[in-house]
Amino acid sequence: MRRVYMDANATTPLLPEVMEAMRPYWMEHFGNASSIHLHGQQARTAVDQARETMAEFFNCHPAEVVFNSGGTEGDNTALFGLLHPGDHCITTSIEHSAILEAAKRLAHRGVETTFVAPQPSGLIDPMDILRAIRPQTRLISVMLANNETGVFQPVEEIGKIAADTGVFFHIDAVQGAGKVKFDVRRIGCHLLSISAHKMHGPKGIGAMFVRRGTPVEPLLVGGSHERRQRAGTENVAGIVGLGKAAELAMHSLQDGTIDRLATLRDRLEAGVLAISGTGLNGAQTLGAPGPDSGTGESRSPVPRTANTTNIWFDQLEGEALVIALDLKGVAVSGGSACHSGATEPSHVLMAMGLDKTRARASLRFSLLKTATDADVDYVLKVVPQAVEHLRALSPVAAGTLG
Ligand SMILES: Cc1ncc(COP(=O)(O)O)c(C=O)c1O
Repeated sequence: MRRVYMDANATTPLLPEVMEAMRPYWMEHFGNASSIHLHGQQARTAVDQARETMAEFFNCHPAEVVFNSGGTEGDNTALFGLLHPGDHCITTSIEHSAILEAAKRLAHRGVETTFVAPQPSGLIDPMDILRAIRPQTRLISVMLANNETGVFQPVEEIGKIAADTGVFFHIDAVQGAGKVKFDVRRIGCHLLSISAHKMHGPKGIGAMFVRRGTPVEPLLVGGSHERRQRAGTENVAGIVGLGKAAELAMHSLQDGTIDRLATLRDRLEAGVLAISGTGLNGAQTLGAPGPDSGTGESRSPVPRTANTTNIWFDQLEGEALVIALDLKGVAVSGGSACHSGATEPSHVLMAMGLDKTRARASLRFSLLKTATDADVDYVLKVVPQAVEHLRALSPVAAGTLG
């Protein structure tokens, strides 16, 4: 059976070049980058080279790159490392749980957080961030792109607000990295987190941009690694893999790969939306009434990552569709997540104003940058069949599910 993986926002496979770059650092070049002998020097050189690549990727100085274990650690470091009792933090209600749970824990330590809600399009209005600022506000943390809808957030405008009001600004760029060109200097953020496994690098490795002079306290203490900002023997092979993945991602942004991906995604989206009783989640904003809009409202697209589309299906349980598609060889993810054993509708879709039923009946298709026309053809063959089959059986369709 054909297998098509369309869950790239969950994780991505290594590209062969990444695997090859990492290979020597598990065996021949196994040294500890802190050792002074030849083995250590080889490891140190590799870490330094990857740091240079990441500095180019972020557009910062190499000394402003801190390697860590990934997005969760970067997000936690931003909040726990900067906020103290009595401080106020501003974030959004559509962040990843690595931010939301950190904010929740900080509430017990006397840090208050304002969670700014998105518009129905999935976009955060920078004016809502500005309105939330108080004299005690120390940190704003907003994601570059949302993991469920792909919607890019207006981080440059938020960066200006942070600069004008003297507030630190952290960006969770885990889902945006490699999908759009960004520049920490132009945005004016103080901290930015990324994770290798979302961009064809290995799991358990990531990096943070930490603007020089930002008083962020390390989460881990011990040795003097990473300029005392993150203790622990460097994961040399992982760091090399991240550097290679970032290098390849920079090429992809220039060689038309991302534009090609957007075209594929658009074809997939149009094909799925041709099924009756479906609609796009977010990604469109209601504009002023237009002369030819018929209904008195016009819709305009909001910027989003080239690989993502999130679609609701009436009279369906999203989870049932995920399982049915998996049985046909197609991997996607649903609009709900498992929290403490219970399946909850997506907090992102709910924050955008979807009701529970529609949030549960939503699917995220997120394409790998290696996706092909044949992959899209296969998915467009399988999805309508699965939807029709499930609707014929579905207790939702029969009106027996509340
Ligand atoms: C937006 C966002 N932030 C943070 C993370 C966590 O990253 P990691 O898996 O590297 O801990 C994820 C992972 O899904 C994510 O999508």
